[in-house]
Amino acid sequence: MIPAKTLQTSLVHGDYAAPAGYRACPAPILRASTVLFDNVADLRARSDWLDRSTYSYGLFGTPTSYELEARLAEIEGGAHCLLTPSGLSAIAMVDLGLLGQGDDVLLPDNVYSPSRELGGWLTEKFGITARTYDPMAGAAVQELIRPGTRLVWAEAPGSVSMEVPDLPAISAAAHSRGALVALDNTWSAGLAFDGFGHGADIVMQALTKYQSGGSDLLMGAVVTRDPALHRRIGQAHLHLGYGVSAEDAYLVLRSLPTLKLRFEAHDAGARAVAAWLGQRPEIASVLHPACPGCPGHETWKRDFTGAGGLFSVLFDPKYSEAETDRFVDGLRLFKLGYSWGGAASLCLPYRMRAMRSRWDQAGQLVRFNIGLEDPADLIADIQQALAGITRS
Ligand SMILES: Cc1ncc(COP(=O)(O)O)c(C=O)c1O
Repeated sequence: MIPAKTLQTSLVHGDYAAPAGYRACPAPILRASTVLFDNVADLRARSDWLDRSTYSYGLFGTPTSYELEARLAEIEGGAHCLLTPSGLSAIAMVDLGLLGQGDDVLLPDNVYSPSRELGGWLTEKFGITARTYDPMAGAAVQELIRPGTRLVWAEAPGSVSMEVPDLPAISAAAHSRGALVALDNTWSAGLAFDGFGHGADIVMQALTKYQSGGSDLLMGAVVTRDPALHRRIGQAHLHLGYGVSAEDAYLVLRSLPTLKLRFEAHDAGARAVAAWLGQRPEIASVLHPACPGCPGHETWKRDFTGAGGLFSVLFDPKYSEAETDRFVDGLRLFKLGYSWGGAASLCLPYRMRAMRSRWDQAGQLVRFNIGLEDPADLIADIQQALAGITRS
């Protein structure tokens, strides 16, 4: 008990101590900036911000974020996890943790566009060179690796054009020349593709998508197996001052039990809609890794166990951008907006030539995120929107 308290002080320091032994199914939401120490010796002993057996400051985590880190590391088959305020900040943390002045990083030409833009910014500010490679290059990536190449990124698959990379071949090539491999594994939510098992050293997720599932928060995760690598990336986490709110971490923890069920429902819906689109005369090709026309389909069959809800189509080149825009605007159930992995289906048109160093396809690309609606209703919606532009 604290002696001689006035009411004002009592409002700050209460005597109540919760009884020990509270247990419940949900993870507790434990918020903090200040974390308390028992004495100065205790304070001095807790100086390693990456030590998850204790707490030192809210920025470095509370039991809520520690639990989420541990659960995500387990899902990906890794040992360590760092949470970041968005998927993009997770990508930036890997780059800033592993690259220094004069280093070189290779990005697939189908990389998430802000990651490519970040590469350009790193070049401008720090003299780090960021070069792109053909996502289908496989072992040929080796020819691009220079003495200063420290990192090779891959996306499995590219989240707009959907090429499925041969990650084992890319990883073997990178490792043979001393470069690390970082994988953006967001498309498969860490469920349908084993990044570490296929050669990645670092696996990154935009938790904003499937792990949240609610289209209501932004968060990223970087998972590693090697403690030294975790510590190098952890330096960037520390210096950038990245933290996540306990409420957001709780929302992801709350969504995890349904992650696989949701992912499988997205997958089934997407395959039904993709198969239907594949029969339509307006569509030149369906870029869905589980469909034979998709670049890297054979690799998907070899390495993946599922597909999720995200895929794209290329319209017949006879349809202009204005017409495919009209198609997107004509959709009623599908909404127009960025991101994916939520319950509501989304559709977006992309200007591929502006996004890629090389893009040879003639038709307009439109991307679908298949949500959790009845696929028959989604197909009916696409059908009515196509009717608005169809010509023979
Ligand atoms: C493949 C991929 N990686 C990373 C990100 C970035 O995630 P966030 O929106 O949480 O920054 C996205 C976002 O769309 C993405 O599609």
